[in-house]
Amino acid sequence: MPKPVRKLLATLEGTPDPIPPVWFMRQAGRYLPEYREVRAKAGGFLDLCYNPALAAEVTLQPIRRYGFDAAILFADILLVPDALGQPLGFHEGEGPRLAPIRSAPELASLKPSATQAKFGRVFETVARLRQDLPNATTLIGFCGAPWTVATYMVAGSGSSDQADARAWAYGDPGGFGQLIDLLTDVSVDYLSGQVQAGADVLQIFDSWAGSLPDDQFERWVIAPTRRMVEALRKKHPLVPIIGFPRGAGAMTARFVEATGVQGVSCDTSMPLAAMADLGRKTCVQGNLDPLLLVAGGEPLEERTREILERMEGKRFVFNLGHGIVPEAPPEHVAQLVELVKGWRG
Ligand code: CP3
Repeated sequence: MPKPVRKLLATLEGTPDPIPPVWFMRQAGRYLPEYREVRAKAGGFLDLCYNPALAAEVTLQPIRRYGFDAAILFADILLVPDALGQPLGFHEGEGPRLAPIRSAPELASLKPSATQAKFGRVFETVARLRQDLPNATTLIGFCGAPWTVATYMVAGSGSSDQADARAWAYGDPGGFGQLIDLLTDVSVDYLSGQVQAGADVLQIFDSWAGSLPDDQFERWVIAPTRRMVEALRKKHPLVPIIGFPRGAGAMTARFVEATGVQGVSCDTSMPLAAMADLGRKTCVQGNLDPLLLVAGGEPLEERTREILERMEGKRFVFNLGHGIVPEAPPEHVAQLVELVKGWRG
């Protein structure tokens, strides 16, 4: 049987396409009524993440509705601390809560050997997805980058400035480095398991990369990501990795060069000129403002055309600069996907 053309995979491998592949971060989620229905049936958010049948179902929902070129596994970056044994809860309207870890001795409570039971359920979701997805749909596996996951583990919740993790990193870099090393190793195993189960492409979400000055960015963003990319390349030489160092700004080109990722996702604040420039070195993904999906209409179409024109001829994946927000009307998502798929057609 000939190998199916998976457009996102092909673009990352270096085959240009006049109509870029399109998928959106958080394409499965609360803006979809069918997601809210399954979510209510599952019980809690974590119950949904660890239920392979339901997690596969919500992953497939946006593929059926919009025909995206890629599906992203339904899970969460905080499943890694959860599987390590750091108690995690998601409460309506509050976001995640964890029992904070603030010092090196507390790391003894984390159990890398205990992760397999929970990770196994995620791998089962991936295996189901590879069976149920159309042959031409690329399947993306993911995890959070060590720095971003650590910011939640240390603060015990989301935070606007990641102050607790930054303070630990400055005050006791050796101890904080142990947490980062542990997360790096566990994340490599987790992503490798996703590839073995059927993921075609991997994305590493570093949502808080932008909160670090350049020397700290080298140490806590670039170095662990490079370690992950090197280890994964050895195990799975053909699987492309997309980095998402959100807020990295002027450090983005250095990030691409130093980590060895095959693609980089750009947030909304990246100027199109800079994104086009990056597109000469690597495959770039981005960066429409998710709030344009709330507005819809002409403002959405105008900016979409601007991005498509500016990125023409580059190795480019159409995406948002961050996840779809719950307020986005599903019709606006349809409008956007039609526009991208009909580009120059
Ligand atoms: O469709 C997809 O993109 C795949 C699934 C996915 C989720 N989270 C599902 C989710 C992915 C890739 C993520 C990544 C994630 N999770 C990140 C990195 C990307 C980013 O947004 O910066 C981060 C920082 C998290 C941590 C997280 N998960 C927070 C802070 C929250 C609460 C805020 C919120 O949006 O509710 C979540 C919950 C979450 N993860 C939801 C979904 C669909 C909403 C939960 C619900 O259904 O109630």
